[in-house]
Amino acid sequence: MAIISTCTASTLKDAATSLRSGNLVAFPSETVYGLGVDATNKDAVERLYKVKGRPTDHPLIVHISSVGNLDKWAKDIPEYAIKLAQNLWPGPMTLVLFRTNLAKNFITGSQDNVGIRVPAHPIANALLKVFEELGGLGVAAPSANRFGKVSSTSAKDVEDELSSYLGIDDLILDGGNCQVGLESTIVDCTLQIPRILRPGVISKSMVEEITGLELKSDQTDEYVKASGLLKSHYSPIAKVFLMGNPGIGDGFIALSDIETPEGAIRLAAPKDVTEYAQLLYSALRRADQMRIKKVFVVSPNQGEISVAINDRLAKAAFK
Ligand code: TXA
Ligand code: MG
Repeated sequence: MAIISTCTASTLKDAATSLRSGNLVAFPSETVYGLGVDATNKDAVERLYKVKGRPTDHPLIVHISSVGNLDKWAKDIPEYAIKLAQNLWPGPMTLVLFRTNLAKNFITGSQDNVGIRVPAHPIANALLKVFEELGGLGVAAPSANRFGKVSSTSAKDVEDELSSYLGIDDLILDGGNCQVGLESTIVDCTLQIPRILRPGVISKSMVEEITGLELKSDQTDEYVKASGLLKSHYSPIAKVFLMGNPGIGDGFIALSDIETPEGAIRLAAPKDVTEYAQLLYSALRRADQMRIKKVFVVSPNQGEISVAINDRLAKAAFK
């Protein structure tokens, strides 16, 4: 496995060629790092599941370079989904749509729908463009972490997490730290009214404003196939507490205006909720690197990003 620290037109072409040959390429996106693979290559996808340690019935998101390629993967697309795609792509949103024959069972976990995203990160988008110029149709990419663990928000995270599982021809593209820091908002567009399966920085009110539809806010267990919807996920080794006070040597995460309790180890002090989302996963990773056993977190409550942050925190804390 090699790490490409400077992404140029030439290294991106190499990476796209490598994907076309069936190798895995981890790449930065504005949300978290993805572990990419040619979405039409069954053997490569099987290896991806092994590297991630993920059950094969959990579907993958297919990444494409522009909304123009959507029809290849999805059919019977409702009007409201087209509005969402046109307004919010490229961006941190995944649409779940009825699949075409191109989206095989090995991508969709045998469901009749497929998750599609057009990422905005310049490296992700350029990689997808070159991949498509080489005849590729889409790159399936889960977050670049082991199943159930914290997503990677830097190339170093990907290396720490996956280097012992990746092969000699696999690549990691370094694009610095992810701007958003939390995975994309997933919107189920197979129903009459869109439904948010996983909250993210694209908020419920943005979806409502663009579609002109009112969304239901409840989530039910019928969607457990979305692994990010399992009750426990995004979990560090340390135990995460959303209530109580840290003791000496325990980790502590809170907005910067909250003081560190005496004896606690401050893992992050974000100035606002946007920075909270950016720093959360790296702070949880640092706890594990420092072999901290307990991390106490003060959840944020301002702004709609807090919904997504608190969703991930609840899962990180669930044991
Ligand atoms: O921001 C993101 O979405 C990142 C970047 C790399 O694009 N990707 C990501 O993928 O978070 P992953 O596989 O770690 O999480 C995607 C979640 C999983 O819980 C998966 O089960 C669910 O989305 N999912 C994918 N396709 C789905 C579908 N057709 N129906 C329901 N859930 C789906
Ligand atoms: Mg994931």
